[in-house]
Amino acid sequence: MGYTLNRENSDRAVELGLAEADWYQCPVPRETLRHLLVRKDGPAIRDTAVWFGLILGTAVLTGMLWGSWWAVPPYLAYAALYASTADSRWHEAGHGTAFRTDWMNDALYEVASFMVMRESTVWRWSHTRHHSDTIIVGRDPEIAVPRPPNVKGMILSLFGLPVYPKYFRRLVMHSFGEMAEDEMQFIPAGEFGKISRKARIHLAIYAGVVALAIGTRSILPLMFVGLPNLFGSWLMSVYGLTQHSGLAENVLDHRLNCRTVRMNRLNRFLYWNMNYHLEHHMFPLVPYHALPVLHEAVKEDCPEPYPGLWETWKEIIPAVLRQVKDPAYHVKRRLPEAVARMEARPAASDAEPDGGGWLEVCAGGDLGIEEVIRFDHGTRTYAVARDDEGVLHATDGICTHGKTHLATGLVKGKIIECPKHNGRFNLGDGSPARAPVCRGLATYPIEERHGRIWLNVVKHRGSHELKMVNNPRAKGGGN
Ligand code: FES
Repeated sequence: MGYTLNRENSDRAVELGLAEADWYQCPVPRETLRHLLVRKDGPAIRDTAVWFGLILGTAVLTGMLWGSWWAVPPYLAYAALYASTADSRWHEAGHGTAFRTDWMNDALYEVASFMVMRESTVWRWSHTRHHSDTIIVGRDPEIAVPRPPNVKGMILSLFGLPVYPKYFRRLVMHSFGEMAEDEMQFIPAGEFGKISRKARIHLAIYAGVVALAIGTRSILPLMFVGLPNLFGSWLMSVYGLTQHSGLAENVLDHRLNCRTVRMNRLNRFLYWNMNYHLEHHMFPLVPYHALPVLHEAVKEDCPEPYPGLWETWKEIIPAVLRQVKDPAYHVKRRLPEAVARMEARPAASDAEPDGGGWLEVCAGGDLGIEEVIRFDHGTRTYAVARDDEGVLHATDGICTHGKTHLATGLVKGKIIECPKHNGRFNLGDGSPARAPVCRGLATYPIEERHGRIWLNVVKHRGSHELKMVNNPRAKGGGN
């Protein structure tokens, strides 16, 4: 099975049952998870303001000292902040979990994408696939260290060198409306126009910076935009390669292919808690600021976390070097004894609905504000939710994107968010509200009578399509 994302490799992973599969999830009590999922603006506004302040401060110092060697330290700090720490901001904002307010997530995502030389739309879909099929060969477009590892390439990555040619080549290609074959495996065709427009914007910004450098006869504009990735990408590798390098491929348990690494407060600020990578993969709905608490909740059911960056790299370097000669080798993580699962049983009924199609679900008090529960009837599953104003809603219970139970997701206002890739639906009519969801859910009449919730399983309203035509070549609807 090859790493190239093409139809053949993808089909092979599908045949082996490795694509879009069910992954192990540590048991977390529903009440704990509910607290962990709370979205907030405060922590991310504070952290983003400090982060931009540091970038601006080091840029001003660089500008003031430019022409002397004293400019080197602030410039190197600027470059690392710009080209490396933007990666975790890109990541968290891309999940839509950094802020409670969506436009803030979107704005940070676009800015950070530009800084780390990624096309925002392409990478949104790529990261969706990375979460569906983490380190599944032939499916995951974000395997950082394919085997046998390219050690020279890894060293060049410290200077962002492999990124420049690929990024600019694809920008030009996309600006002309062309897509690469691997991209067509995971991006719906309806997104191609957006990708093309954004590629032109990126190119226009770089053209403006080059013009400014020529006009001012100074390299300084390019040192601030374009060249920081040469001097500052090293920290992204130092942090980012700890996530999966040297660990198992083609397993369906994030405890075997992701690392959690203990880090000090400074590193956790710079890396936005992505050192809790195992926890993030298992519960991508949990915002970065809640990951330390999530770690405490699941650690008994996970391998020992790595004590620090140094100890982690002491494992990664020999493992990668060994894989050069023996590509089958990988680090085996020791799993703890299986813990007792505390799975909440879904509300279920085999009863025949009454003449009007109504069925009793549960007591009204069992469903709080912005809560959702699963209700099974026969072979069908429903998500029964109460929005922020206490209004009841019932929809199909399985996400239309990837067969995930929505009842393990998050209700936010009048939206329900899927736990797998943060896709969203409007509770009112089931319509899609955020990619990667393209197809809506059917909705069902639901009401509260004398303190009990009743669902009508007969009269459903049809699903809605987002104006996004799935690429027929993208298996799994772009998943
Ligand atoms: S399974 Fe992907 S958004 Fe629901």
